[in-house]
Amino acid sequence: MKILVVNGPNLGLLGTREPHLYGRETLSEVMARLREEGVALGVDVDSVQFDGEGELVTAVGRARGRYDGLVINPAALTHTSVSLRDAIQASGLPCVEVHLSNTHAREPFRHVSLTAPACVGQIMGFGAGSYSLGLRALVEYLKRSP
Ligand code: DQA
Repeated sequence: MKILVVNGPNLGLLGTREPHLYGRETLSEVMARLREEGVALGVDVDSVQFDGEGELVTAVGRARGRYDGLVINPAALTHTSVSLRDAIQASGLPCVEVHLSNTHAREPFRHVSLTAPACVGQIMGFGAGSYSLGLRALVEYLKRSP
């Protein structure tokens, strides 16, 4: 089983970006741990990060046929991107949306996710742990799928 983890704009700044909200770990550290957790779960985990909406849409589109599922943190594009939502939908891949912070406890514009309806579920508010929980949820979902 192969899983692609897709990270949106500004997540490359994790570690120094508003650590009170997003923690002190870098994205590389979080993704390295996720790869190890993938080994324990028996799945291969690859990850990408792009700041640009188009690059993210392309990465999701290319995942079809190469990966069994997606974990995505669309970052700010969660709240704005119809094209990323359409890309997830078009990929036909099961996708779990994750967020480090609890977006419902933040500004009203973060309460809406345009991308979540294209996903099988959403996990937020557990810091980097949201990625681990999202990966486990996706693997269990895939194992239950025919
Ligand atoms: C985020 C939440 C988004 O609202 C924000 O724009 C981000 C990070 C999170 O992981 O908590 O960039 O996706």
